[in-house]
Amino acid sequence: MATDCSSEPALDARWKQSFRRRLLTWYDRHQRDLPWRRSQNPYRVWVSEVMLQQTQVETVKPYFRKFIKAFPSVKRLAAASEQDVLRLWEGLGYYRRARQLHAAAKIIVAEHGGHFPRDVNTLQTLPGIGRYTAGAIASIAFDERVPILETNTIRLLSRLIGYPDDPTKSAGQRLLWQTAEDVLPRKNIALFNQALMELGSLVCTPGSPQCEQCPVAKLCTAYADGSQSAIPRTGRKVNFISVAEAAVLINKQGKLLLRQCPEGQRWAGLWDFPRFEIVGEAPQFVHDELTKKVKEQIGLVVDPKELVKTIKHGVTRHRITLDCYTARYISGRISRRHGTALRWVRPAELGAFPLNSTGRQLANLAHLSMQNGS
Ligand code: ADE
Repeated sequence: MATDCSSEPALDARWKQSFRRRLLTWYDRHQRDLPWRRSQNPYRVWVSEVMLQQTQVETVKPYFRKFIKAFPSVKRLAAASEQDVLRLWEGLGYYRRARQLHAAAKIIVAEHGGHFPRDVNTLQTLPGIGRYTAGAIASIAFDERVPILETNTIRLLSRLIGYPDDPTKSAGQRLLWQTAEDVLPRKNIALFNQALMELGSLVCTPGSPQCEQCPVAKLCTAYADGSQSAIPRTGRKVNFISVAEAAVLINKQGKLLLRQCPEGQRWAGLWDFPRFEIVGEAPQFVHDELTKKVKEQIGLVVDPKELVKTIKHGVTRHRITLDCYTARYISGRISRRHGTALRWVRPAELGAFPLNSTGRQLANLAHLSMQNGS
């Protein structure tokens, strides 16, 4: 195969035929039995593909099963409350995916009679559906002859054609989308596209791929010149930012205060304990700072007590150290502030609220310690 990376890929007909045959034969023998592969229902394909964005297959499996059980059709999803949708998504992260899925379900019901559009352009008008997800739905559910390109296939195709530059940049994206289209067979698109992802995921892995087990190693440029570990070239390293935050478990006669994260902020739609960025370091300064921030931002007078837990966690580029304090309610009434809903909640009711993962850890801790009467 001759590939000039500065222009369109030139894959010759015999190479393509051999590639397709080898790939499909391998997939037939090695494909995993995944819960979303048991039917070509577009709703199930869509839910699985959205969950699989940024999340590992093994993590997605139980979430997919529970989600489909609760919302077996696009109509049922559209009719659900956002709280119920977020509650089932809790722990998967990237919650915007769930909110967009819900918003798109409503549009499919209101504007498409509850039927999935099958062409990629119409699919891409829906919230959260970009070129990849549209391609996956159209090809896997409807066998439309359209390409897909996501993490696994970016890696596989980059190695296959020996693409030496950063594949996430626009030149790389153009070339790889073109390659993904070029290699498509005339039929069996659903199988072919899933086989590409499966080979990328199981064999053509990051770091050190298992080229000895690869059915298309003979056709691979990176394998031929030994550059498989250097491809795909990764972009700039992320610069992490350290942040100190504090959460407060404000106790008013056995109820805890929850706030709903507002639109446009981290975890929009989910609930959390009041949380603040903190500049002070010594505990007495944190107490003063927390007292002031709770008063200013929530309108309550509280008395911060002990530090009960420190949780280190990451959100995008932020590396957060979260100190969690208990606090005694003294005075003040809650009202909706700056578009943020506030609610006093009994520990036993915390399970009904979708919480971010630190919120859930704290809720479990608070529930246990309040049960024990402390
Ligand atoms: N990653 C994204 N979509 C996938 C799929 N359908 N199968 C396996 N891995 C995937």
